[in-house]
Amino acid sequence: MLQRNEDAGHLTRYETTLRRLAGRGRLRGLSESGGIDFSSNDYLGLAGDGRVAEALQAAIARGVPIGAGGSRLLRGNDPEHLALEAEAAAFFGAQRALYFGSGFVANYALLACLPHRADLVVLDDLVHASCHDGAGATRAEVAFARHNDANAFEDAILAWRKRGGTGCPWLVVESLYSMDGDRAPLDALIDVADRHDGFLIVDEAHATGVFGPDGRGLAADFEGRDNVVVVHTCGKALGASGALVCLSPVLADYLVNRSRPFIYATAPSPLMAAAVREALQVLKDEPQRRDRLNGMMSQMAQGLAALGRPSTGSQIQPVIIGDAEATMGCAAALQARGYDIRGIRPPTVPEGTSRLRISLTLNADEAAVAGLLSALAETLDGPGR
Ligand SMILES: Cc1ncc(COP(=O)(O)O)c(C=O)c1O
Repeated sequence: MLQRNEDAGHLTRYETTLRRLAGRGRLRGLSESGGIDFSSNDYLGLAGDGRVAEALQAAIARGVPIGAGGSRLLRGNDPEHLALEAEAAAFFGAQRALYFGSGFVANYALLACLPHRADLVVLDDLVHASCHDGAGATRAEVAFARHNDANAFEDAILAWRKRGGTGCPWLVVESLYSMDGDRAPLDALIDVADRHDGFLIVDEAHATGVFGPDGRGLAADFEGRDNVVVVHTCGKALGASGALVCLSPVLADYLVNRSRPFIYATAPSPLMAAAVREALQVLKDEPQRRDRLNGMMSQMAQGLAALGRPSTGSQIQPVIIGDAEATMGCAAALQARGYDIRGIRPPTVPEGTSRLRISLTLNADEAAVAGLLSALAETLDGPGR
């Protein structure tokens, strides 16, 4: 056993890092949330929804277990997972769907497993951390493309071919960017993928449930194609957790056989699968949720235009402040007025682009949006903002 003083020595390097972060105003901590929700990704208000809760009670009553008890490949393959995957594939128009424990793991697993050594992975500069980490685990070469620039993806592929690249390119994007609220040029990207015999991976984390027919996402037109893999995370508009990866049967079977995070992990809770099944049903049955959220998006866009601020036309609305400290000051001022708005700083966003990330959800209402807009008008009036 280590002595106390040796223990302290082992911790020094971590303490040094934490002190350095604090010195740069970058130390993060876990705090309880409070105030009107303008920061969660529970866009349709399903996380605390009565209908989903009732579906869970019914699932418990029919004996659906809390825990899977093992990997999907062993005892953990519950009928609830299979039912969810069949329903999700039908709903999204995919050939197959595989349910992962989280969106982070799904993105990581796809990129760590599918591209081969001779392939090229091209990431949009602003794609989620889980894709960066997955690309860090791939055996393929990795390149980056300027945000939302389909030509930059093509240039990366051409440069790689010129260097002798022989495999397939994998283009990796979000359909609606989590910190910027802007949309990927999916038509142009699929065109690049098609012309270069490549694959397109689309992370629909922030579009699933909100955009597309029945809330099927922005990539709905491309689902079912052999060279498209779509990730629908379930912890955002679907109000639950996990991720449904929609893909071809060959790639699904390959993941089941080769993806270490899929194989060597306890399967997601079957009860969570039951919650996601109900959430998908809500998407079909209750379009009024999307309509209301759309109304709030328009209200926010008009209010921001009046403040001379650009708007994204989505439920994710960044208000760029630039300086990290000023951003956190604005966020604190809004929080003090009862609005749960978070400041986002580097490294989550590029240096000099610290921002308030406003997300619109049905946990707030039109009156709250109006209140927030007036509070923003006063708060953004401060020096340097
Ligand atoms: C774009 C994007 N992809 C993936 C994830 C990870 O999904 P999950 O929260 O289900 O792990 C997130 C979550 O922040 C995200 O914003």
